[in-house]
Amino acid sequence: MKKFVVTVAGGGSTYTPGIIQMLLENQDRFPLEEIKLYDNLAQRQEPIAQAMQIYCRDNYPEVKISYSTDPAESFTGIDFVMAQLRVGLYDMREKDEKIPLKYDVVGQETCGPGGIAYGMRSIAGVIEVLDYMEKYSPEAWMLNYSNPAAIVAEATQRLRPNSKIINICDMPVAIETIFAAILGLKSRKEMNVRYYGLNHFGWWTSITDKAGNDLMPKLKEFVAVKGYAAETEDYQHRAQSWKDTYLKAKDTFALDPETLPNTYLKYYLYQDDIVAHENKDFTRTNEVQATREKDVFAKAHQIIEADSAHDISFATGSPHASFIVDLACAIAFNTQERMLLIVPNNGIISNFDPTAMVEVPCLVGKNGPEPLAMGTIPTFQKGLMEQQVAVEKLVVDAWMEGSYQKLWQALTMSKTVPSAGVAKKILDELIEANGDFWPVLK
Ligand code: NAD
Ligand code: G6P
Ligand code: MN
Repeated sequence: MKKFVVTVAGGGSTYTPGIIQMLLENQDRFPLEEIKLYDNLAQRQEPIAQAMQIYCRDNYPEVKISYSTDPAESFTGIDFVMAQLRVGLYDMREKDEKIPLKYDVVGQETCGPGGIAYGMRSIAGVIEVLDYMEKYSPEAWMLNYSNPAAIVAEATQRLRPNSKIINICDMPVAIETIFAAILGLKSRKEMNVRYYGLNHFGWWTSITDKAGNDLMPKLKEFVAVKGYAAETEDYQHRAQSWKDTYLKAKDTFALDPETLPNTYLKYYLYQDDIVAHENKDFTRTNEVQATREKDVFAKAHQIIEADSAHDISFATGSPHASFIVDLACAIAFNTQERMLLIVPNNGIISNFDPTAMVEVPCLVGKNGPEPLAMGTIPTFQKGLMEQQVAVEKLVVDAWMEGSYQKLWQALTMSKTVPSAGVAKKILDELIEANGDFWPVLK
């Protein structure tokens, strides 16, 4: 069987060890020749790369692990890029969260003004990596987790419409892991789902077992009382703020008991409540730095100091890592696996903008995703999605045109922002804070 070469871009990401371990564990179906780590910040990447080299030497000596900040070295002779960039690092994420909160507006990585600000930073980084891949390995595929995925997908679709990039999100698979736990199933893969929406903005309309039996009634019964508060193996969403988010799904569900909602809808439907319960001095960035980031780098340093990974390993088994490995397999071996991906609507949701990037089930094979028709959607969801997709399109317009006006319209359009006046104040602070990360706006 062919052996694959995979580049992990954003090699210094907190998710890199999990993805590398998942790749290594899945070699019976996806054999590896080499994993290359690429980052534009050498000192961030180095400890993770060195720890993974030791881990690999001790457990999978047949696989080579290399790392570099040089694009030619990182992107030549590869089959896949698995990307997870955070342009501006946690320092800028913290500002994305804390600036809107000053005005009692949601401060979040991917939603509201924080997501818009992150989008304005992320577009150039993602395009840069995509262009490197196409220059050095034109046949390769880029599987992209870099957030905010909705804005990034709109931008890559408009700027590089023919490129082999698939934008993805792990939230649906993480929630489906919860569904499986509620239903007493061994795996989310025992379910068939129908789902539609934008990224971090969608709804499940049907969940059945493989025999076609309806599993929604049992799920709804649970969610009406407990939201998504069920125990799973997913170590990624364990912090207190994630527990709160999973519980809050109960209130989002109450608004439309016909469907099961994505957790991120809480930021658009209960924005006042979310802001009221937020600690404005200690936001999710601070929590991540105190937990995930601290743990990952502490383990990396332990492995390096011990020069051994026999007794130390990173947490494994997250839906995040398994999803991206499944996607690479589906493309490499034309498996036609059914997966939720972010793709051009193009009639999939028949009463919605054909140019919008939507998140829907797709069959995945060697030519990429083939989305399944989701039909018409109800007025409530359609109205919310039209407003939100307009925000995302205006952000990309603003980035491409260098337009202050369009970005002000985008912030004003966001359901999280109460008025054009508040939007302008937040925007002016974000411009100041983002400096050269953003194009100049006129
Ligand atoms: P992190 O800061 O730990 O890692 C990001 C890495 O990207 C850093 O090492 C940074 O130096 C690097 N980077 C930044 N700009 C770069 C560029 N232009 N070229 C190469 N490398 C660059 O962040 P994290 O918390 O591990 O998250 C990583 C990314 O994955 C974020 O965008 C996060 O939102 C995203 N993510 C997405 C999903 C999803 O559902 N789509 C799920 C989890 C994480
Ligand atoms: C979910 C979302 C991602 C988000 C991630 C991490 O999995 O799907 O888009 O980046 O959570 O968020 P966190 O706040 O834990 O860094
Ligand atoms: Mn996501």
